[in-house]
Amino acid sequence: MKNIIVTGGAGFIGANFVLHMLNKYDDYNIIVYDKLTYAGNLDNLLDVKDDPRYAFVQGDICDAEMVEATIQKYDADTIVNFAAETHVDRSIMNPDAFIQTGVYGTYVLLEAAKKHGMRYHQISTDEVYGHIPEGYSSVETDKLDPRSPYAASKASGDLLVNAYFITYGLPVTITRGSNNIGPFQYPEKVVPLFATNAIDEEPLPLYGDGRQMREYQYVIDHCEAIDLVLHKGVLGEAYNIGTGEEMENVEMVEILLKTLNRPHDLIKHVKDREGHDRRYSLNIDKIKALGWVPRHTSAEAVEKTAVWYRENEWWWRKIKSGAFKEYYEKQYGHRWQTEK
Ligand code: NAD
Ligand code: DAU
Repeated sequence: MKNIIVTGGAGFIGANFVLHMLNKYDDYNIIVYDKLTYAGNLDNLLDVKDDPRYAFVQGDICDAEMVEATIQKYDADTIVNFAAETHVDRSIMNPDAFIQTGVYGTYVLLEAAKKHGMRYHQISTDEVYGHIPEGYSSVETDKLDPRSPYAASKASGDLLVNAYFITYGLPVTITRGSNNIGPFQYPEKVVPLFATNAIDEEPLPLYGDGRQMREYQYVIDHCEAIDLVLHKGVLGEAYNIGTGEEMENVEMVEILLKTLNRPHDLIKHVKDREGHDRRYSLNIDKIKALGWVPRHTSAEAVEKTAVWYRENEWWWRKIKSGAFKEYYEKQYGHRWQTEK
């Protein structure tokens, strides 16, 4: 590996991964290939913008010609694919871009990787396993059972990646991460939305009873695990990446409010998400056997994230005052009326 294309590298996890890789390895060149959708943000990469080992290309992973030209220009040997539409609520409102990027875009990248004999890594999610009943944790060989358009687009990507391994022997790996939190997460996702609302003393719209279970993990822990799988993962295999620890949303909100010193009555229970998966839970034995452990508990991750948003208003205020407002009104306007 020398020249690594990171697709979706201007988004939340992708940018954290780029910063991690450039910081850790001297001899890798990183080419961020990103469409810059509403979620892509070059502010996330300000720290490396003048680094000679970093280049940025604005492009769509569905654009095969542009992907080809980028691989040729930078003599790329590896693709790490973070590019996706990532917000479940938006996938419920309008699934089209999710299918385009998650299914067709993944196919375009796999074809390019096959043509050039490249190493390929796919960033996937615990949501591909669907809702998991109490008492069970998903292992990598479980049947995929996605239940939202977002999760279905990601599961489709995983199936394509697996097919290219079996059919063409493409050197692939997949990681399936749980809920990431930390710096640079677009404030539509629950933790940055609630942190920034709480800072402004605005209500926090908690879906349904708030007893849904998620594994909130610190984004850098996730990036370290992806790095490990990229270097040491067994080709053709998937790896779950989580905390092994579960947290109900009600507990996450309490930690946020306590960290930010804001009152409990900011919490408003509102109409639930359609088809809301109540519980995800990952068995992480396989990634641990590769030599990884999460450095943060979920509680530490929530606290650290809340503090980052309190200290980095320069980053999120301009987002929340722009096109985000329109989305917020569409997503939550009617929900305030149906408060439980
Ligand atoms: P994000 O929404 O913050 O960033 C996505 C990035 O992809 C953006 O920079 C966007 O511009 C880019 N992009 C979207 N469509 C594109 C296209 N067609 N061509 C090129 N670039 C495109 O997402 P994130 O939270 O950083 O998630 C990154 C990846 O990790 C996704 O694949 C997601 O499914 C997966 N994942 C996310 C989480 C999480 O908790 N956020 C957990 C597990 C897995
Ligand atoms: O599990 C991994 C997935 O985590 C990633 O694959 C997705 O890209 C990422 O968006 C995230 O999906 P979730 O749907 O779990 O994340 P979100 O932050 O949207 O919601 C987390 C929980 O909080 C979920 O139970 C829904 C709830 N929620 C969310 C929002 C936005 C609320 O109660 N209120 C809200 O306003």
